[in-house]
Amino acid sequence: MKVLLISASPRRAKSQTLALAQQVVQGLGPSARAEIVHLRDLKIDCCTHCEACHVASMRCPIKDDVTPLLEKMLAADGIILATPNYINQVTGSLKVLLDRSSHFIHCKRLLGKYLCGVVSSGSGTQDGLVLDYIRYYGRVCGAQYSGGVSACAYRLEAAFPEALNLGRKFARDIGTRRRYPAQLRLIEKGKAHFRTIMEMRKGHWKEEYAYWQTQGWL
Ligand SMILES: Cc1cc2nc3c(=O)[nH]c(=O)nc-3n(C[C@H](O)[C@H](O)[C@H](O)COP(=O)(O)O)c2cc1C
Repeated sequence: MKVLLISASPRRAKSQTLALAQQVVQGLGPSARAEIVHLRDLKIDCCTHCEACHVASMRCPIKDDVTPLLEKMLAADGIILATPNYINQVTGSLKVLLDRSSHFIHCKRLLGKYLCGVVSSGSGTQDGLVLDYIRYYGRVCGAQYSGGVSACAYRLEAAFPEALNLGRKFARDIGTRRRYPAQLRLIEKGKAHFRTIMEMRKGHWKEEYAYWQTQGWL
């Protein structure tokens, strides 16, 4: 199984969040092949809302590193989003990536995939808000959420066992194609909403509409 770890800390190897996420990776076990991507190493500009990715799927006119990364996300069975808590949100670099993936939301491109979240912060008090946002992002793209782990940076190691266990669960979820019925119901509800939007916008979002047709969702 392929797992993609997207690290959104600007501190690369010094990142506390990455240290926690590496415990999740360790928990995955030998059946997983994990790749780590540091957003800090990539050039990804802000979405300009030109809608080109909806008209012609995935073909963004901004020439930067986003498309290869979105392709890596599509090729993965599981995605770990690891981010420090920045004012109770993901970091700006991660938000920019998520904005650039809005075609994934329209076409539920993460269906069948699993997601988990890893957060660290200075206080360790409000990280649930960040994990909730990561879970929300996965859901609107069609991914099921295996769970999240968070820790105060000054007591990071106390969360290592939980992170290790999350990795084990993540690998099991992917390996057994676990179904979370409540999550799947919400994903279906989101699809029903977008079915209406696709019908309304079919003259404009041509390739996305064609994608929905090939999936048999219309
Ligand atoms: C711009 C910025 C905003 C931050 N906002 C918060 C915050 O709202 N709450 C908090 O507890 N820590 C906050 N922190 C602290 C970081 O979340 C914390 O140091 C984290 O462990 C850094 O992770 P990293 O080592 O992976 O980069 C913030 C740090 C920065 C640089």
